[in-house]
Amino acid sequence: MFADPMHLPLAYRQQFLISMLTVAISLLVACNSTDESIGTLTEPPGQDDEPIPEAIAFNNAVGFEVFREPHGRLPVPLKEPDAAALQEFEAGLPAPVISAPPGFDTNANNAPFFSNLKNLDVFAGDTVAIRFAPEDLDGDLPGMFYEQLPLGGAFPDNRDGSKTFRWQPLQQDVGIFRFTVVAVDAVAPGYRSSQTVLIRVSLPEDPSSIPNVAPMVESPREYTVRVNDPVVLELKGLDLNGTIPTLELPEPPVGASFVQHPVFEEVFVLKFTPTVAGEFTINVLARDSVDPNLTTTEPVNLNVLDSVDFQASGLPLRELAQNRDFKIGFAALQSFYHQPDGALYADFAAREFNIVTPENSMKMDTINPLPGRYEFAATDNLVRYAQLHDMQVHGHPLVWHRQLPEWIEQSELADREQHMSEYIQRIMERYSADIDVWDVINETVDDDGSLRGNESVWFEAMGELYIDKALQLARSIAPAATLLINEFDISMAGDKFNGLVQLVERLQARDVPLDGIGFQMHLFDNFSSFDELQDNFAVVAALGLDIFITELDVSISSGASQPSTTELALQADVYRQVAGICIQQPACKALQMWGFTDQYSFRSNFNPLPYDRSYQRKPAFQALQEILEISTPETGF
Ligand code: XIL
Repeated sequence: MFADPMHLPLAYRQQFLISMLTVAISLLVACNSTDESIGTLTEPPGQDDEPIPEAIAFNNAVGFEVFREPHGRLPVPLKEPDAAALQEFEAGLPAPVISAPPGFDTNANNAPFFSNLKNLDVFAGDTVAIRFAPEDLDGDLPGMFYEQLPLGGAFPDNRDGSKTFRWQPLQQDVGIFRFTVVAVDAVAPGYRSSQTVLIRVSLPEDPSSIPNVAPMVESPREYTVRVNDPVVLELKGLDLNGTIPTLELPEPPVGASFVQHPVFEEVFVLKFTPTVAGEFTINVLARDSVDPNLTTTEPVNLNVLDSVDFQASGLPLRELAQNRDFKIGFAALQSFYHQPDGALYADFAAREFNIVTPENSMKMDTINPLPGRYEFAATDNLVRYAQLHDMQVHGHPLVWHRQLPEWIEQSELADREQHMSEYIQRIMERYSADIDVWDVINETVDDDGSLRGNESVWFEAMGELYIDKALQLARSIAPAATLLINEFDISMAGDKFNGLVQLVERLQARDVPLDGIGFQMHLFDNFSSFDELQDNFAVVAALGLDIFITELDVSISSGASQPSTTELALQADVYRQVAGICIQQPACKALQMWGFTDQYSFRSNFNPLPYDRSYQRKPAFQALQEILEISTPETGF
């Protein structure tokens, strides 16, 4: 009945055994009662999982109360000595990995290579210097770049065709580090040779011989905030010696509080309210925990703007949507009220949207990270925020093959169905009064139209029937909720969309409850299959299903950090056309974006959202406004 605890990492095993013991005890004492834990594989949420109020010094929520987890940190799985890395180290310098563009004639051109390299065995505190001098038998001088530098490492150019990797590993680097340099052919830049050097760092017999280096402040990014909004800044100290520095503010802003985080010892939280506009620099000092004279000061920059500096012409999107009984929404960054610009984020989102999806907080690895342990605080807080602003909440996702906790990945096949059911039951029961749209199944169809097979722990255990079971259970718990299958890459004609349609037909033939399809739509600015999108919507509507655009964003394909006017217009056009197609299709009930500001996007480098990083509206925003405005049922489209 129970998963084999020996398959779990050590720290989980202890936790697991404790939960098992609790289950066993409750079984004993409750044989005659209706205790929910009877016959369960893992403990249901209990009082010990109930979030507790968080002091206001730690967040900038306006109008709703923030709770935090009652637990401390998750237990860190003990690091077993990595036998595979050790074996690799002892086998000597890894062979170079040569890559060439498709069709490239490797006989006509020699690959660049490195000679005179070997793996290194050093002690923490030693200085590593490895010279990389790529050669090429064709006589050209190859270029090179590194894959990843360790903190505190450097790779300066010696100006003679070589570069030297310099690094002083310290206590926190003990273990085996891989430093990889890629040599690039001078004539054919796609022709490359990737060389890894392994460096084993051990603790010296006398660890006090390791130099004590100055601590650092992990530097946050740039933020734009608004005058009179509360700002919280979580500042994290870091010391390569593995100790925890103390953080101080030499000149705190007026009225600021500065306190250590209740759970994370290395984090300090600054909270204050800027009352005038301008560029602000706050200096943060990190003090070494061993030698108090060893300090570093880092500036943190904030751009404070007046309300009038944020363009807000025209009606809010949600007002335009409301007129046509339509939902317009966004995915909310987990714990946005812990970000410096959280108050601005919350305010703008509440003004524009009437539906919100948690971007990450309801994923199984986040909300149920260990058997019997539940972390509800972030989702509870989002629900409270949504209720304050009269927004609907879209639950995402119940059953997915990704972002799973390790204990599920390692669970016994025979137990998976029960794990899935217990999970759906517990999450839906907690939130069914607050959430009425659910992505019950996420990303189940593969590119070729078949179902994702053994890549999914759920399919592996139950085959296609996991979909039936999940939807049936969801319906029984929330009879009135809208139940969706949410899928990506189905905006075009092709195998994947056809596979989805066939799946729906099979489900309908088996009388499995299903209300709609979520079209994720992570697009690029060169998307042009609008006719196919319209056709796909029509096919889904003809199946009697609702359509939700669930995760729309439109990446700027060049990846330019400052997109050009042309690129922004192209992006706006994709938003305009997609929104237009949705509005014209009566089955399309919602347009939800995967975020709303480029400041917080899982594709941040491609600036895919309708607000920029400083919360200024982009042409894409106006495009949405126009579409929602001109296409009311009265005016027609
Ligand atoms: C993404 C989040 O945006 C990231 O923050 C996270 O690291 C990975 O997942 N399809 C989905 C979403 O259904 O849950 C994914 O969200 C994006 C793709």
